[in-house]
Amino acid sequence: MTEQIPPPPATRGHGGGLFVAFEGGDGAGKSTQSGLLGQWLTDQGYAVRHTREPGGTALGRQVRELLLHGEDGSVSPRAEALLFAADRAHHVASLVRPALLAGQVVLSDRYLDSSVAYQGAARALGHDEVRELSLWAVEGLVPDLTVLLDVSAREGRARRGEVHDRLERETDEFHDRVRRGFLDLAAREPGRYLVLDASRPVAELAAAIRRRVTELLSQRGKVAAQERLG
Ligand code: TYD
Repeated sequence: MTEQIPPPPATRGHGGGLFVAFEGGDGAGKSTQSGLLGQWLTDQGYAVRHTREPGGTALGRQVRELLLHGEDGSVSPRAEALLFAADRAHHVASLVRPALLAGQVVLSDRYLDSSVAYQGAARALGHDEVRELSLWAVEGLVPDLTVLLDVSAREGRARRGEVHDRLERETDEFHDRVRRGFLDLAAREPGRYLVLDASRPVAELAAAIRRRVTELLSQRGKVAAQERLG
């Protein structure tokens, strides 16, 4: 008998669920859009788990405090990358993967690409190094779809208003590098991304996201039906 080959890490533990990440610079409107999508999916009868990074778990909320609310210079760049990766490791192991295995739709405000864009590109720790670190942390789990809400540094700053955490206080040059980091990731794997101009009206963006997610869910339904038929 042939030996069973384990599934590749990128699909391991995905179960029947759907994993959608929302990415983009600070002030891009990710939580508005993930909230609207979550509400719409719930109304359609889907089980939805809405979460975020950093801070989607109890441990993550403590890590979030360390990462975002210290003085400038309180976290060195590599410590920052490791703390975001630690938050992510625990988030995936204790919340995201179990929800996917239970067949839920998981919507996450930020995921792995935020580390590549902020720590890898903007802090110049290296795209590949930071990506590898996070992939190790999550045992290869990548989203089925990443919605990238593209916003310029200037516009993001204007939308955020007055209150700024440690990363939001960074310069416009930093936020421009973040933006390029995200766009670069999307260009490498266009099939897994939906890139939208975040300055478009909220309702238009929401409709575009719903269309893409509906396509994914119907593909998933077809695959499940084929599997049932043998
Ligand atoms: P948050 O208040 O969640 O911002 P937003 O509402 O814009 O998502 O703050 C998260 C901050 O942490 C944000 O500035 C981006 C940054 N971040 C990283 O630098 N690396 C990461 O891996 C993640 C997940 C977030």
